[in-house]
Amino acid sequence: MKECRKTNQNSLIEKSIHVMDDNNIKDIWLAGIRRDPKNYHITVMYPPLKAMKEIDENQIFSRFENQSKKFSLYIHMPFCTGKCIFCYFYQIEKPGQELINRYLKAIKKEIQIVAGKIQNQLGRISIQSIFFGGGSPTVLSKKQFKNLLGFMKEQFDISKETEITVEIHPEIIRNNGQELIETYYDNQVTRLNIGTQIFDDHILKITNRRHTAAEAKQAYELARKIGFENINIDLLYSLPDLTPEIWENTLNTAFGMEPDSITTYFMAIRKCSPIYQMINTSPGRFPDEYLNHLFRIMTIERAKAAGYEHRKLIDWFVKPRENFHYLHQQNEARKTKEIQLLSFGSGVFSYVNNYQYYNIPDIQRYCDLLQKVQLPVWKGIYLSEEERFARAMVLGVKSGKVNTNEIENKFKMNIREKYDSLLQKLEKLGLLDEVNGSICLSEKGVLFADEVAVQFMTPDIREKLGKNDLLHSIEKDLIENYNFMYDMDGLSFLQ
Ligand SMILES: C[S@@+](CC[C@H](N)C(=O)[O-])C[C@H]1O[C@@H](n2cnc3c(N)ncnc32)[C@H](O)[C@@H]1O
Ligand code: SF4
Repeated sequence: MKECRKTNQNSLIEKSIHVMDDNNIKDIWLAGIRRDPKNYHITVMYPPLKAMKEIDENQIFSRFENQSKKFSLYIHMPFCTGKCIFCYFYQIEKPGQELINRYLKAIKKEIQIVAGKIQNQLGRISIQSIFFGGGSPTVLSKKQFKNLLGFMKEQFDISKETEITVEIHPEIIRNNGQELIETYYDNQVTRLNIGTQIFDDHILKITNRRHTAAEAKQAYELARKIGFENINIDLLYSLPDLTPEIWENTLNTAFGMEPDSITTYFMAIRKCSPIYQMINTSPGRFPDEYLNHLFRIMTIERAKAAGYEHRKLIDWFVKPRENFHYLHQQNEARKTKEIQLLSFGSGVFSYVNNYQYYNIPDIQRYCDLLQKVQLPVWKGIYLSEEERFARAMVLGVKSGKVNTNEIENKFKMNIREKYDSLLQKLEKLGLLDEVNGSICLSEKGVLFADEVAVQFMTPDIREKLGKNDLLHSIEKDLIENYNFMYDMDGLSFLQ
């Protein structure tokens, strides 16, 4: 921390230190609200996986209460050419063609079964956006990708207006990058998401990213040359050996490239990722809590200076443009609107017909079930009106603003009546403000958005989380990797 105070008064680092000091975050730490990478959960869904149970998939697709025919699709490719040391997502390293083909066959079967079940209820549905994510969808060959997308077009209404995003790993620049990006462009893909993480060769090397900073830039430039007009860059902070100077340089490079949007992630550390070992043996190589907050403020300040808007649910910074859509992420950022998200593949989660459910995060079991024409649903939960109201609060607060009238009218419930003492505590700590009838995160609150948002869970979900010890140990590990929300420890600080 002292190191970064030596910098020039007008620098991004110095300015961000002032914002940190003005917000006096130590008061929040004293209240017990901390941000620790080993116990950090990004709040982008509700309720948490730990509160879910086995579920009969027939319930999900019968009697559609949510009659909206507008759906977003997510297609998961859990394959990578290697393992980045910070990654805890379920993925298979260096898969053979046999496994990829088996998986593609299974995912097509899953799409066919689900499309049929929905069609029986709602008729043919129209797809607003599709996101191919991973793992690395770039492990699919040109032929495999075209075949999968072609099959999806037979099952759903996918029109020229449908936004299609593919997640790109910059390593492709070393192999078939040009051919793949051209294939995406020629097959109606409208948006690319480039997993860049950091513009620093040393950190890229020690985290086993398998590409350099220059190659990430090259991948971006190639995509622009081929014609892509909508490109997002993913960045990741709190990495080992990261300093404010390296982060400033990363932000300057990223915003200097003028992508259409940038997503920044705070690195979460789970037992299953190789970095877990490293933080235990060499904690000094990791940024401390103060620095991690500083990186976040630097990002917000740099984005503001570049004229990007901050969409807080996923720390997504968007260049405002007229007549330009970013539907997938926009729908993500508008989860309170309950847009139906249908996901396919091993280890994904969906939000459909007021159910939230997960597919089994085990590729062999996933394929075996589909071979028997059974859906690979693992755990799920039906959201009662009360839970949908809580979901709107949790995700609304995380997004930075809860429109009180809109939510109260939709669910016929009163926010103050339900949450009076919690709101008072959060307002007293200066984390929430009431602005023109909306409940908003304050500047300080934005720094603890995940931790504040989870406080709005219902007592019922808290009770379910408390009973989590009853789970089998094998399941516990799987759940730990897939748990995107705080558990009881993370919830108790304001009780
Ligand atoms: C699941 S990855 C897939 C992207 C693609 N395979 C790649 O690496 O380029 C999607 C994004 O998650 C983020 N991510 C990866 N590991 C993370 C972690 N431990 N904590 C938070 N975000 C992480 C990275 O920014 C990454 O681009
Ligand atoms: S970060 Fe991306 S490439 Fe790296 S292991 Fe995770 S999914 Fe694979």
